[in-house]
Amino acid sequence: MTNPRDNHPHAGLLADSLANSSVEAAAGTRALQLIVNGVERRLRVTPNAVLLDVLRDQLGLTGTKKGCDHGQCGACTLHVNGVAINSCLSLAIMHDGDEITTVEGLERNGELHPVQEAFWEHDAYQCGYCTAGQVMSAVAILKDVRIGSDDASVREAMSGNICRCGAYKNIVAAIQSARKTGRAD
Ligand code: FES
Ligand code: FES
Repeated sequence: MTNPRDNHPHAGLLADSLANSSVEAAAGTRALQLIVNGVERRLRVTPNAVLLDVLRDQLGLTGTKKGCDHGQCGACTLHVNGVAINSCLSLAIMHDGDEITTVEGLERNGELHPVQEAFWEHDAYQCGYCTAGQVMSAVAILKDVRIGSDDASVREAMSGNICRCGAYKNIVAAIQSARKTGRAD
């Protein structure tokens, strides 16, 4: 017996669409839209995909580093809607529609952000593994009016970022130097 739907002009499209839906459903993925460094990105992610992994593995933004993967070291720090977070602790699916800034998004017209320049000038790293996270935290605290401008307040605010090379003295010097240049974004 012939199914009248087989003769519908869009039967093929409908079949393809249903097939695609079932593939996606089988894979258990969900649609996700992010604004990453000012560019809209549309992705499909599993519900348990971690923001850090999505940025690194799906979008190729490997500037953000995975250190401890447990919220202890700060290497994965980036900004969500202007607020610094540990991206290893955050599910990507929670950020639908959010604006994400990674270390790759700090430069403007080929020029480093003043905090990046200051890290360079003050030799504020050795191996560099923690540096992206340090820089992202530094940019956030320099904009946060609740945080004092003295060295002790800077050290306290940066205490979530571990540097196993022990570059702390130069990191604080770099942040204080960048404070004087004034760029806020
Ligand atoms: S990798 Fe996220 S805090 Fe260490
Ligand atoms: S520069 Fe090596 S961990 Fe900080």
